[in-house]
Amino acid sequence: MTSLKPILSHIDNIPSTPGKFKPEKSSMYFLHHRFRLHTTVPRLTLWSLVFLGLIMLFFLLSPPSPAAPRRGLRTTAAYGGSGWENRVKASAKVRSRNGHTVLVTGAVGFVGAHASLALKRRGDGVVGLDNFNSYYDITLKKSRKSQLLDRAGVFVVDGDINDAVLLRKLFGLVHFTHVLHLAAQAGVRYAMVNPNSYIKSNVDGFVNLLEVSKSTNPQPAIIWASSSSVYGLNSKVPFSEKDRTDQPASLYAATKKAGEEIAHTYNHIYGLSITGLRFFTVYGPWGRPDMAYFFFTKDILKRRPISVFEGPDHATVARDFTYIDDIVKGCLSALDTAKKSTGSGGKKKGEAQFRIINLGNTSPVSVNKLVSLLEKLLKVKAKKKVVLMPRNGDVPFTHANISLAHKELGYRPTTDLETGLKKFVKWYLDYYGAKKKNAW
Ligand SMILES: NC(=O)c1ccc[n+]([C@@H]2O[C@H](COP(=O)([O-])OP(=O)(O)OC[C@H]3O[C@@H](n4cnc5c(N)ncnc54)[C@H](O)[C@@H]3O)[C@@H](O)[C@H]2O)c1
Ligand SMILES: *[C@@H]1O[C@H](CO)[C@@H](O)[C@H](O)[C@H]1NC(C)=O
Repeated sequence: MTSLKPILSHIDNIPSTPGKFKPEKSSMYFLHHRFRLHTTVPRLTLWSLVFLGLIMLFFLLSPPSPAAPRRGLRTTAAYGGSGWENRVKASAKVRSRNGHTVLVTGAVGFVGAHASLALKRRGDGVVGLDNFNSYYDITLKKSRKSQLLDRAGVFVVDGDINDAVLLRKLFGLVHFTHVLHLAAQAGVRYAMVNPNSYIKSNVDGFVNLLEVSKSTNPQPAIIWASSSSVYGLNSKVPFSEKDRTDQPASLYAATKKAGEEIAHTYNHIYGLSITGLRFFTVYGPWGRPDMAYFFFTKDILKRRPISVFEGPDHATVARDFTYIDDIVKGCLSALDTAKKSTGSGGKKKGEAQFRIINLGNTSPVSVNKLVSLLEKLLKVKAKKKVVLMPRNGDVPFTHANISLAHKELGYRPTTDLETGLKKFVKWYLDYYGAKKKNAW
């Protein structure tokens, strides 16, 4: 899993204190020469040299400006040019009355692709942004782009949310009314392999996006994906928005919780309207290969054993599986009910909306039940290996209280796990059956 390196390495190369290195070098050289020149140059020149030296010393010791531009973020520009700009603008074109203009980050991701498609279909303007990172199979991301997004006319910008120059360029080209921010480093166990990728995308990247958004005039409303994982080790069920969220079980959860606090700050100081949606285990066609329902399907078809987790004392592990279409409906309602941001020019003009809302299915299903449903749909018996759930990020169960989602968004999930899995399995067999005959 070191494959993320080449993509992010150009970002890692930025010195943490931009612009500090050059002056240091030249002033050392300068001071050194001043002493050699002492006897030969006239007084006036000497004093002006000392004066200059002091000025340089001042710059050297002062902390670097936090607003220093992050130059060199992108060495090979994958964007720019009039052709590119025209494609961005065409994709952003609104085709329905009172439609929104939405920037969707993480657009070739699982939720991002489905949400972009739904927005485009109902006539909203949509511009996608994704860095196509290789956390999981890039082929799947490229297929979502070519088979879903290209066909619908959604243009996806190949770029990183940490790239402020790119974001400002996009906000300059298009007046986005909303940002649907879904780009993130997901997965709980990978955080032990590559912790920094979580900070880079879920904290740094989110702050960068909020910085550019708050400086835009008029500011967009932000709708973004938090996670049920913020409930961490809580045992009170169902999980309600008012419950404590200060005992995360993974770095992933910690970065999502940090995101919620950061979002509050930007709402409070700059008047950005922000809605955080806590998704509960989303599944469905075009899903994520790192999730259990996905790799169980693959392994069952390959007649490979699958590891089924159980909690301490044989406690069952359960998840509030939520079908992708229900999540997308929740995202769209959140966009439609979002109030306008109140700030302009980086200044708050009044209180702005701030919401945190669960999007789940409210009916947890045990992993054993998940496996038996898959066996039935695939018509193959699974080779189950029961193992004690390791304490490295997963929580024993999740269960959403969705009263607030119902009240705020009119949200009412309609797909049960068996119906949703049937659609997933159909897609899986179509996609891998047609693409790679030996995949299963
Ligand atoms: N799927 C779930 O069960 C679930 C549950 C809770 C929360 N979420 C959250 O929902 C959102 C969408 O999840 P998903 O399942 O679609 O995941 P995903 O990994 O399929 O999609 C995320 C996309 O963001 C892109 N991305 C990551 N870092 C980026 C960066 N720095 N710049 C630009 N693009 C970047 C990735 O390439 C990927 O295509 C994420 O924020 C995730 O944390 C998902
Ligand atoms: C669900 O959340 C609402 C607040 O949104 C709360 O009033 C209600 O008591 C919660 N229900 C349960 C069963 O915890």
